[in-house]
Amino acid sequence: MPRKVNYGIDCDDGYDDDYDDYDYGYDVEENVKEPSLQDTIKRGVWRCSVCTYDNDDTMSSCDICGILRSPSVRNGTYDEKRTAPFKFDAPSPDDLVSNGLHSSEQHAKAKIFDFKSSRAPSSRVGKNEAVKELSSAKRSDSSHDSTGKDNHNGIVFSKNLEINTSSGFKASDKSSASMAKGRVEDSDGRSVSINMCSSGQSSSSLMPKERTDMVEDGSSLTHGGEGHNLTSNLKNMTLAAKSGNSKDIKANSRAQYKPEKWMLPEKAEDSLTQLNLAIVGHVDSGKSTLSGRLLHLLGRISQKEMHKYEKESKLQGKGSFAYAWALDESAEERERGVTMTVAVTYLDSKRYHVVVLDSPGHKDFVPNMITGATQADAAILVIDASIGSFEAGMDGTKGQTREHAQLIRSFGVDQIIVAVNKMDAVEYSKDRFDLIKSQLGTFLRSCDFKDSSVTWIPLSAVENQNLVVAPSDVRLSWYHGPYLLDAIDSFQPSSRDFSKPLLMPICDVIKSSQGQVSACGKLEAGAVRSGSKVLVMPSADIAIVRSLERDSQTCSIARAGDNVAINLHGIDGNHVIAGGVLCHPDFPVAFAKHLELKVLVLDGATPILMGSQLEFYAHHAKEAARVARISSLLDSKTGKVTKKAPRCIVAKQSAVIELVLQEPVCIEMFSKCKALGRVFLRTLGRTVAVGVVTRIVEELV
Ligand code: GTP
Ligand code: MG
Repeated sequence: MPRKVNYGIDCDDGYDDDYDDYDYGYDVEENVKEPSLQDTIKRGVWRCSVCTYDNDDTMSSCDICGILRSPSVRNGTYDEKRTAPFKFDAPSPDDLVSNGLHSSEQHAKAKIFDFKSSRAPSSRVGKNEAVKELSSAKRSDSSHDSTGKDNHNGIVFSKNLEINTSSGFKASDKSSASMAKGRVEDSDGRSVSINMCSSGQSSSSLMPKERTDMVEDGSSLTHGGEGHNLTSNLKNMTLAAKSGNSKDIKANSRAQYKPEKWMLPEKAEDSLTQLNLAIVGHVDSGKSTLSGRLLHLLGRISQKEMHKYEKESKLQGKGSFAYAWALDESAEERERGVTMTVAVTYLDSKRYHVVVLDSPGHKDFVPNMITGATQADAAILVIDASIGSFEAGMDGTKGQTREHAQLIRSFGVDQIIVAVNKMDAVEYSKDRFDLIKSQLGTFLRSCDFKDSSVTWIPLSAVENQNLVVAPSDVRLSWYHGPYLLDAIDSFQPSSRDFSKPLLMPICDVIKSSQGQVSACGKLEAGAVRSGSKVLVMPSADIAIVRSLERDSQTCSIARAGDNVAINLHGIDGNHVIAGGVLCHPDFPVAFAKHLELKVLVLDGATPILMGSQLEFYAHHAKEAARVARISSLLDSKTGKVTKKAPRCIVAKQSAVIELVLQEPVCIEMFSKCKALGRVFLRTLGRTVAVGVVTRIVEELV
């Protein structure tokens, strides 16, 4: 059995998962309350400003909703006590066995998750009750937290890949459209010379140093107390100085890098290339059912397993969720019939090894969707064709169809399949399909999706129409396009940076009771194989690759685009952290807290002011941040500066800003590595801006 995560949350007995009873309107934001300082410091806890859960003082982000602790509060009460930026709880051997960490099921999967808030139906649960439910969820959670999950940095682990962030997202249509158009292409390639701390050197002596490839004025800002915090935090990371395993690192120009022969794929080796495919869309549109059905049709779920899912789901009065159960593994997900975390499964099409990233659709779990979908090369946007359901997904404030489409576009995904599901519920009506295509098509164009990169497919996951063969139902005889699997094969392969130095953002870390540690994630550039030396950032330790696993199978080489678990040795497991990056030893990723960004403030978002405190998200890293400077406003069409040093940026405006993070993160300029250079800025559970890193103002060395 694949590992099943049970949060042990007490569910509302009266919870009814009928579609109409779901509370799409439930807004955690309604509970927003600025914590008083007293609230914050009492009993060694701090109160989350969003869900009001009282977190232990050692937590840097809310254990329930993942919202980062207010930096201003942290400065006063937290940093002094902080002993390490991240905390790991190694799973017990029993946990690992019971969770099947090393099992090799055919459709072995990993779950990407973390956000643990209960889905509170507001029709039944009032505001306070909802908060209570969240809190009790957390309490029972901690007492059941024996699943081998790391929950630092908002990241929880499961079998292979587990990541997570927090809070809801609301963005509106036009915003991401302009964002997508406003991509930044900085000139780069200049050599960066940095010296990482060497063995025996105290990490506290590490000082910020201006990056040599800075372009204009790198006016470094001094912020009260930050130097101290930075130094002490670096010290607390017990970096390479303690491990004695670091090396002097001289970052070389990437232009000088010459990949070895084995790093480049040979056609003959494997005719299938890897496709990381995000399944996204509004809640209950049928994403998990569709994924489960595909896995079953393609033999990744055996008949025996399917019978078991059918029997168990029926027994629980959830017969219609039988296929979804293959993806929704946790008791809570199954009980509620809602996906909370991203499930990672694998299937093969004619052309691709497909990594299926089945995302949650409910708005409470958008952060989970974000961190999973950052790995996507392409996406299937699932639409519920039923009357009223498509419309609910398109709702500007509550629907996730628009939001997911915007998000995946801003992740750089430009080819999608729109799977118009549940066509059985509308008698396979061509008119309904055409209406959906017309309305959603207009919106997708506004998000900068080209018509030629969008494939529209009417289908029914439940009735198995148009999935892996042409439809048999005569009511679909009007459709003459490809079936779903065919359309997946029609995706253009993503270009991969095989010939660049290794870069793998770590989305998850698995530690075994025997002390083995595996870093999981998608290689964004380069390649590794057993025996390779890798630089583990930000600890700057060198580790050796002991083995590699893809789809629960050992493999000898992983290259750019592959989604793998890399078993490392020669490193303290505590130095491998989600949000970190595995790099080529001679080409370290930047580690910085002072960044210049080009951002677009989303439609409907609150203005960004000088000094605004925000949550910063990049690949699998998140950190509290402060706007240190708004350098200029930009014309969103031409990119030209329209105003220098404005006081604020309002919705739909683009600007160049400088951000100072509470703690440094592994990051790259967008021009150097797109996946490591995309950022999202959020506050109070909403994404307020998307953008890219244009300059690393100060790099820590
Ligand atoms: P979240 O992950 O929570 O956002 O939901 P989801 O999009 O994964 O939906 P899920 O697969 O859990 O299915 C939700 C409900 O829709 C279940 O009751 C399914 O049986 C039903 N469903 C899924 N596909 C179809 C379909 O093709 N036709 C009909 N009539 N119902 C479907
Ligand atoms: Mg689902």
